[in-house]
Amino acid sequence: MSSLKRLDSEVYKAIYMETKRQAENLELIASENFVSEAVLEAQGSVMTNKYAEGYPRHRFYGGCEYYDVVESLAIERAKKLFGCDHVNVQAHSGTQANMAVYFAVLGIGDTIMGMHLSHGGHLSHGHPTSFSGKYFKTVPIGVSKKTGRIDYREMKSLAIKHKPKLIVAGASAYSRIIDFKKFREVCDRVGAFLMADIAHIAGLIAADLHPSPIPYADFVTTTTHKTLRGPRGGMIMCKKRYASLIDRNIFPGIQGGPLMHVIAAKAVAFKEALTPGFRKYQAQIIKNARALAEGLIRKGFKIVSGGTDTHLMLVDLRNKRLTGDMAEEVLDKAGITVNKNSIPHDPEKPFVTSGIRLGTPALTTRGMKEEDMEKTAALISDALEHRYDEDYLASLKKEVRKLTRKFPLYKKRLRK
Ligand SMILES: Cc1ncc(COP(=O)(O)O)c(C=O)c1O
Repeated sequence: MSSLKRLDSEVYKAIYMETKRQAENLELIASENFVSEAVLEAQGSVMTNKYAEGYPRHRFYGGCEYYDVVESLAIERAKKLFGCDHVNVQAHSGTQANMAVYFAVLGIGDTIMGMHLSHGGHLSHGHPTSFSGKYFKTVPIGVSKKTGRIDYREMKSLAIKHKPKLIVAGASAYSRIIDFKKFREVCDRVGAFLMADIAHIAGLIAADLHPSPIPYADFVTTTTHKTLRGPRGGMIMCKKRYASLIDRNIFPGIQGGPLMHVIAAKAVAFKEALTPGFRKYQAQIIKNARALAEGLIRKGFKIVSGGTDTHLMLVDLRNKRLTGDMAEEVLDKAGITVNKNSIPHDPEKPFVTSGIRLGTPALTTRGMKEEDMEKTAALISDALEHRYDEDYLASLKKEVRKLTRKFPLYKKRLRK
């Protein structure tokens, strides 16, 4: 870091302060995590320097022999991790992974089905503000008002009525097991492709703690930076028969040169994910999420669907007379980082919302256990209760610091 400090003190300082923020705060954003020093090292390496358009052993540039090594390692490790036929590790992001699949099998104006944004889906699953909702006709899938769980029966009748060409099974804010087999049955009934987007639950699936979509889906997309704890990026898995179709639709279809430093870091993260320690880590994420949900329920909070099977939960704040944006701001003052999130059938606008989404992957990486989640639930409740008392929130921030100090993060990087 010293050359950066010398050359550009402003960027150096911002990175230093961000490292400090990550270390001092309670990070509860469900889609975030803390990568290892090894992943950071690979991503910050000379692998950023070269063009490597194409795929291993078939590049459009000379001098790619070591790029072939890292990309092949990433591919082979991902195949082993998820037990799939073919992997493309070049997608720059989760959205681009989804885009490549859509462009591979759909024409403009075709119909897709995916979970509605406010019922847990992602923008790239057909939201009107995303390319996916602009280029394709979307039929949203919802969750039941009563249970907060996917209404598979309604999904089936919508599919029979609208005959989508592709159905997306996956979510950004859904805390229950997704039944990929049921999605497959509906796809078979209407002749649709099935794309499972496992961006959030990839780590749980790799560790065998959530059923895998690999036997059922034609395409499986993911991000690599959430529960999987790799660098920011995307990935596509598919059956062998779609391999070249997918590869062509990533490059040259929607991308140019691959981010090879990120692919090197993906390879490292997948190696980590293949260790027994990773399974233990994923199991602890789930235990922690349950402990956090139970702690919040004891404090009078309502969790959408009543709890969680995964790493995340959606808190419905309406009984606390709070909106999501207010809660996000108040918790931030106490050093607790969360995001506002629409809840199913939310009466509030997306910038306001009636909920917050909480997840445990990042805190679990730090080594926190169930008792720390109890404490975290108490801190959240305390902060929201005293939301207008700035002094009290400042004192809670000190409590948060006391807790996070017990679980050091990026210690070496914080030595000036
Ligand atoms: C289910 C799902 N799919 C796709 C994405 C998009 O990933 P990215 O932000 O890398 O484009 C996300 C991101 O949160 C997600 O939750």
